[in-house]
Amino acid sequence: MTSNGFDTAHFPLRRGSRSVKWDTLASKYGRDDLIPLWVADMDYPSPPCIQEALRKAVDFGVFGYFAPPASYQDAFIAWEQTRHGVTPKREWLRFTPGVVTGIYWSISALTTPGDSVAILTPCYYPFMDAVKDTGRSLVCSDLVHTDHGYTVNLADLEEKFQTRQVKMLLLCSPHNPVGHVWTKDELLGILELCRRYDVLVVSDEIHQDIVFNGHEHLSCLRFPEYLDRMILLTSGSKTFNIAGLQNSFAVIPNDALGQKFDAYVKTVRIKKGVSLGYVAAEAGFREGAPWLEEVLEYLKGNYDLLKKTLTDALPGIHIDPLESTYMIWVDLSAYVKPEQVVEVVQNQARLAVDFGFWFWPEGQVPAGDTHIRINVAAARENVALAADRLAAAIQGLK
Ligand SMILES: Cc1ncc(COP(=O)(O)O)c(C=O)c1O
Repeated sequence: MTSNGFDTAHFPLRRGSRSVKWDTLASKYGRDDLIPLWVADMDYPSPPCIQEALRKAVDFGVFGYFAPPASYQDAFIAWEQTRHGVTPKREWLRFTPGVVTGIYWSISALTTPGDSVAILTPCYYPFMDAVKDTGRSLVCSDLVHTDHGYTVNLADLEEKFQTRQVKMLLLCSPHNPVGHVWTKDELLGILELCRRYDVLVVSDEIHQDIVFNGHEHLSCLRFPEYLDRMILLTSGSKTFNIAGLQNSFAVIPNDALGQKFDAYVKTVRIKKGVSLGYVAAEAGFREGAPWLEEVLEYLKGNYDLLKKTLTDALPGIHIDPLESTYMIWVDLSAYVKPEQVVEVVQNQARLAVDFGFWFWPEGQVPAGDTHIRINVAAARENVALAADRLAAAIQGLK
C-alpha cells in the first residue's frame, strides 16, 4: 500500500460483487470465462479519503432526506480551478445522476423532437442511444486518422451542420473511444463552426482527469466567447471510480439555457440523487488528488505493457500514443479480418472488450473496421495475461 492508499498488491476480487463488468459477462457475451476489459470503470478501490467519508456516513446510520452542503459544490469548483484552470460559478451548477442522464436531459430540454443532433464517430455508444431514444435525428461526422492520431474533419462537420440543420453537437472531450485530447485549435475550430451555424454544444468531459504524457485537457469553460452555447457535463465518477454512486454535474453558464434545463428536469422529478454520492464526490474532489496521480502512473504502466506485448508479437498492430482515458483503441487490421474479430478476441483469446463496430450506428460502420477497445484499468497481471492471450490468438491465425 502506498502513502496515498493505492494498493496494487491487493485489488479486491470483483467477481460476485454485483459488478456490471465482471458479473454480467454471460448475458453480454454469452460466456463467463472472459477477462473483463470492457465497461469503463477501474478494478481498483476508490481513494481511502472516499472510503473513510462513506464509512463515517454509514456508521452514522440515518439515511433520511439529504441536503447537499455548500461544501460539496465548493470542493468541485476548487478542483476545476486547480486542475483545469476554470471557475464554474455556483449558479451554473446542476445535479445529474450520471453524465449520460445529463446528455438525455440536455437534448430533451434544449432541442425538439425531429431536430438533428450531431456526434463525432466512432463515439461512445450511449450518445447514439440518447439521440434516438429522445426522438431526435442522428448526424454522424467521422473522425479522421492521421500520422498524429485522430482529429475532427471540420469540412465534413460543416457540411453536416449546413445540410442537416444540426441544433446540437454532443462532444466527447477527451474522446471515448479513441482517447484523444482535443487541442486548442481543434476545439476552436469546432466551437467556431457551432457559433456560425447556431449549434449548442454539450461537452461530455467525464474523462477530464485521466490524461497522460503532458497532454492538457482543455475544459470548454476555457473558451469564454462560446460559453453562451455550452453545457459542460462532468463528474468525479471516472476520476475516483465512483460511477456506482451516481453523482455528476451539468454546468450551464447561459441563464436562459439553464432555465430551460431546469424546467425539463422538473418534469422528470429527479432532484437530488443519493446522499452517499455527494459524500464520496466531495471527499474525492477535496483530498483525492495524490491518489489519482498514483493511479495515472499505474494506468500508464498498463498501457505500456499492453502496447509492448502486442507490438513485439505483432508489429503490424496499431495503437496510438497514450493521450487520455484508460480505454485503448487497438487496430487489428494488419492481421484480422472484420468477420474474424469476435471469434479471435472473444472466443479464442477469451477477452471481453468493446468491439469497434459498437461505436458507429448500425449500417454506418466503416467497411473493414477491425478495432477493439481494451480497458486497461485492471490489475497488471490481467493486462499481461490479456495481451499474451490476444497475441497468441492472432498468431494462431497465421
Ligand atoms: C464519455 C463517457 N460519458 C459518460 C459515461 C458514463 O457516465 P455516467 O455513468 O455518469 O452516465 C462514460 C462511461 O464510460 C463515458 O465514457
